[in-house]
Amino acid sequence: MATVTKRLEGKVALITGAAVGLGECTAKLFAKHGAKVIVADIQDQLGQDVCEVIGSSNSKFVHCDVSKEADVKNAVNVAVATYGKLDIVFNNAAILDPYKLNVVDIEKSDFERLLSINLTGVFLGMKHAARVMVPRQSGSIISTCSVATQLSGMSSHAYTASKYAVVGLTKNMAVELGQFGIRVNCLSPSGMFTPMVKHSLNVTQEDFEKTVSSSGILKGVTLKADDVADSALFLVSDDAKYITGQNLIVDGGHTIASPINIFATHSHKS
Ligand SMILES: NC(=O)c1ccc[n+]([C@@H]2O[C@H](COP(=O)([O-])OP(=O)(O)OC[C@H]3O[C@@H](n4cnc5c(N)ncnc54)[C@H](O)[C@@H]3O)[C@@H](O)[C@H]2O)c1
Repeated sequence: MATVTKRLEGKVALITGAAVGLGECTAKLFAKHGAKVIVADIQDQLGQDVCEVIGSSNSKFVHCDVSKEADVKNAVNVAVATYGKLDIVFNNAAILDPYKLNVVDIEKSDFERLLSINLTGVFLGMKHAARVMVPRQSGSIISTCSVATQLSGMSSHAYTASKYAVVGLTKNMAVELGQFGIRVNCLSPSGMFTPMVKHSLNVTQEDFEKTVSSSGILKGVTLKADDVADSALFLVSDDAKYITGQNLIVDGGHTIASPINIFATHSHKS
């Protein structure tokens, strides 16, 4: 039987939005690679279920609404109190707001609510990560952005703005924290069929994945949350030890190709 090289042996990771979707996949993958994992989410039962699968000696659930500083501070403190340190923070929690196609219909309060989770939540995760990582002069912070940081018109104004802002925050934070040996990066996946997509778009998994796959330049691959978790693993592991301030785009080449693609009709088959 093949043995897995454990790339996070001895590390402690905190993942927000880890009860379902990408966060859940990443929590399980990080644990498989030897990390102790704090599963932080507002969905208590589902979060506890994730910990049950991982095993109680390697994981702990913490109720954490990322828009509340006291919750984020507590989650970081629980990680340190339980496992003695914190090496990795993955700011992954986010919401998708209902699309309103006329800007005039968007309430300021709805715009601000999304930002309080998708942007302020990430800021708080970075702030409290830095609080415990700076004294130890090491750490890795990553956050989930989106291909909405590369192509406009794919999601709401608030969601798009929040993800662009997280890229800016990542780069600025990388500059501040680099002097302490702390790396700060983000990753931008294209569509994954997670509960976020399932509950907000009226589409089957098959149709959604077909649409996403057809938008990528790379053929023969269907993007799954597990694939994006692999990218997160790379970014937090020592394999990426000289990478900081980057936005890793996981989109099968979707956003690099021009709509005028001279190769689109060309076939190499004879
Ligand atoms: N699914 C996609 O197609 C897609 C594409 C690009 C980027 N993303 C991004 O990937 C990340 C994960 O998305 P997903 O598809 O797994 O979403 P999901 O909705 O399936 O899971 C998100 C998790 O975040 C939690 N959450 C929501 N609000 C929270 C809060 N205030 N505090 C703490 N936890 C909260 C939810 O309870 C849930 O467990 C998000 O940042 C999302 O914007 C998703």
